[in-house]
Amino acid sequence: MCGIVGYVGREKVDTVLLNALSRLEYRGYDSAGIATLGSGTITILKESGKLSNLRKLVQEHPVSGQLGIGHTRWATHGEPNQKNAHPHADPEKKVALVHNGIIENHAELKVRLMEAGYVFQSDTDTEVLVKLIEKYHIKMGQTLEESVKQAIREIRGTYAFCVISALEPGKFIAARKGSPLVVGLGQGENFIASDAPALIDYTRDVIFLEDDQMVILTQDGVRVSTTSGREISPVVTRIDWDAKAASKEGFDHFMLKEIEEQPQVIERIYASRLAQGPNKSIFDVLNFDEKELIQTERLIIQACGTSWHAALTAKFLFENLAGIPTEVDVSSEFRYRGLLPQKNTQVLSITQSGETIDTLMGLRQGKEKGFKTLAVCNVLGSTIARESDGVIFTHAGPEIGVASTKAYTAQIGVLFALSLFWGKVRGRLSEARCSELKEEFRRLPEKMQTVIGRKELVRHTAQKFYEARDFLFLGRGINYPNAYEGALKIKEIAYIHATGHPAGEMKHGPIALIDEKMPVVCIVTESVVYEKMVSNIQEVRARKGRVIALASDGDEAIKAHAEEVLYVPKCDEALSPLLTVLPLQYLAYYVAVLRGTDVDQPRNLAKSVTVE
Ligand code: M6R
Repeated sequence: MCGIVGYVGREKVDTVLLNALSRLEYRGYDSAGIATLGSGTITILKESGKLSNLRKLVQEHPVSGQLGIGHTRWATHGEPNQKNAHPHADPEKKVALVHNGIIENHAELKVRLMEAGYVFQSDTDTEVLVKLIEKYHIKMGQTLEESVKQAIREIRGTYAFCVISALEPGKFIAARKGSPLVVGLGQGENFIASDAPALIDYTRDVIFLEDDQMVILTQDGVRVSTTSGREISPVVTRIDWDAKAASKEGFDHFMLKEIEEQPQVIERIYASRLAQGPNKSIFDVLNFDEKELIQTERLIIQACGTSWHAALTAKFLFENLAGIPTEVDVSSEFRYRGLLPQKNTQVLSITQSGETIDTLMGLRQGKEKGFKTLAVCNVLGSTIARESDGVIFTHAGPEIGVASTKAYTAQIGVLFALSLFWGKVRGRLSEARCSELKEEFRRLPEKMQTVIGRKELVRHTAQKFYEARDFLFLGRGINYPNAYEGALKIKEIAYIHATGHPAGEMKHGPIALIDEKMPVVCIVTESVVYEKMVSNIQEVRARKGRVIALASDGDEAIKAHAEEVLYVPKCDEALSPLLTVLPLQYLAYYVAVLRGTDVDQPRNLAKSVTVE
């Protein structure tokens, strides 16, 4: 979490930094700050709360200069207040630094530095890094580069940081280990940021730094090396992006825009993965023998949050369509689980950001134990994409709303295509069934558009229930992960307590929660478990629960069992989660809007969770 940026060039530094930070605010919004260097002096402006507070401060105190660094914070060590906001500096403001990550040995370093007479001004772990650089650079007169290397030798933990020095104007230094950093290359200007979309308005040529690398940036060039001093010839990647994709384009919220982009996301997946396939080109990166891929006999999927829900959905697809036994774990558990060696088994990570630390550590544990690692990922150049042996990019475009929507459907979309590929090459899926499923997928965008056309009905339902204290979400079969997803969406953006359950589990405990006030959202679309689901709904009704049914078009009978019915077009059960999730996303969205919460930047959350 936390976003960092840096700029050196000819533009007004505050404008560039604030603009780049505005694209990183999804990484945290507890405080924001900038440090700029002009006429040999460092100026620091920082404020608690969102970036808008910092903007005001910058307007009141204009800064000069063409070099600076910036930060948007998701608090870990120290309260989210002005004192703990980055940048942090030495008392004389000779060096200033922004940091993303956690310095794990900060407590012992702090004791040592305090004993040596250094006075700390904040409660952050970051400040030890400033003090170390101050010690070597200011007190002992080493170069900034040497001081950074020396400080890195003493810290443990994860970091992406960026530092400027009044003693060496015209340059800044950045380094990474465990937290992402991207260098942006311009003409007479260079940039750094936690991720590439932050630089969308300035350049398309980027270098993704690796762990244990550092970079020195000046107006005219960048020099990359390892933190132990070996020069690196970096690979420059040209990113094919569209600045429009990272703007709201007239929508009230990014989340709403991203919900409504889902038909195009699925259309793109059909065109790129299925229209001429499925075949092995489904993988954008495949660094191992195709035979090994085809011989996959077992899958272990690991992911967090919404991506974990996509993994649970994929288990049905891989087992039912491809005949591959599949285990699913949340990454934070997977990484500490004793993983037994298994033949022809791949570890598949699912992640929108490609930076979630738990998922990254899970991937690394898979590698260590000798498994081939696959990833489904949205962000090009992200750490998980770079470290996995095979990658499928979801190409959902930048997802800015903290609540994941289009990345989720994109994940399920490519996982579906992968299950067809495996089903075919393993002889588990007939040509006829494969064609039928492809055709169903091709028709999905139109059906999604139909659901989008019915959003007013969901808004009406939201109006009826938005004051509820709790919500329950129930589903069965391939739609039970969507019950989890519906609950997660409403928790994270509307701040309403909600839980999702496989409906058959109700009678084992959660049914005790039901009374005449409890809204229970039941996914009851056409499926092999339809009758069972109707029985579960009746159990809810018998306890006076308020049923909101999500049903297939034409199901008139369900009206007898529900207070509200939201319909979605009929489709093959294997693909139904891609339709049933839409009303769930809208429901959370409208409930949140009615409750007046901050939809795109809900409290306490960050888009990219890079701390354990
Ligand atoms: O970037 P990732 O897919 O790895 O992120 C995983 C979760 O942090 C993420 O899905 C989170 O649960 C979202 N806020 C859900 O909307």
